[in-house]
Amino acid sequence: MAHRAEKTAIRAGAEPGAIRRLLASCGLPTAGLTGGLAPRFLGAFDGETLAGTVGLEIYGETGLLRSLAVDPRYRGGGLGGRLLAAAEACARAEGVAALYLLTMTAEPFFRSRGYRRVAREEAPPAIRGTSEFSSLCPQAAAFLVKELSAPAA
Ligand SMILES: CC(C)(COP(=O)(O)OP(=O)(O)OC[C@H]1O[C@@H](n2cnc3c(N)ncnc32)[C@H](O)[C@@H]1OP(=O)(O)O)[C@@H](O)C(=O)NCCC(=O)NCCS
Repeated sequence: MAHRAEKTAIRAGAEPGAIRRLLASCGLPTAGLTGGLAPRFLGAFDGETLAGTVGLEIYGETGLLRSLAVDPRYRGGGLGGRLLAAAEACARAEGVAALYLLTMTAEPFFRSRGYRRVAREEAPPAIRGTSEFSSLCPQAAAFLVKELSAPAA
């Protein structure tokens, strides 16, 4: 169904249970999705079906991108790239200057989209304080950053 990936519409408002199921099926952590510091989510919808999702935690000029997941049936059709671009646009619009993420499996995907690897010791305090950084993602996860340009005036 990768051919349907381009037909998906990206918007907010995905149902938490559907996000949780999609993340679990893609092998990503589902803890820390609700509560005070919960990320905001975008979903990619094929009709009523949640085909992909991405989460964003914003701490002033620093952001954490997490939980980027595309249902395997929709992969390879550009949806992951579209979700990433949409999350970056949201972050940029909210004044985020540097967007960080941790990944076990998708480092090449992010590197080809402008992210570079940094040492975990270089993480700003706001990122160190996230549950994803401090407990959810294994130490072996790659830590990446992308500097975002300011939104066009
Ligand atoms: C990483 C992930 C989100 C990518 O989703 P995707 O929808 O397959 O992403 P895209 O289709 O935009 O790009 C994937 C690759 O397919 C290629 N591609 C894009 N359109 C294509 C098409 N029509 N046909 C074949 N390949 C295509 C892209 O060039 C890209 O290659 P690249 O990584 O070398 O640039 C998905 O594999 C996933 O959910 N992985 C598990 C969860 C995970 O690891 N998330 C990251 C941690 S937060």
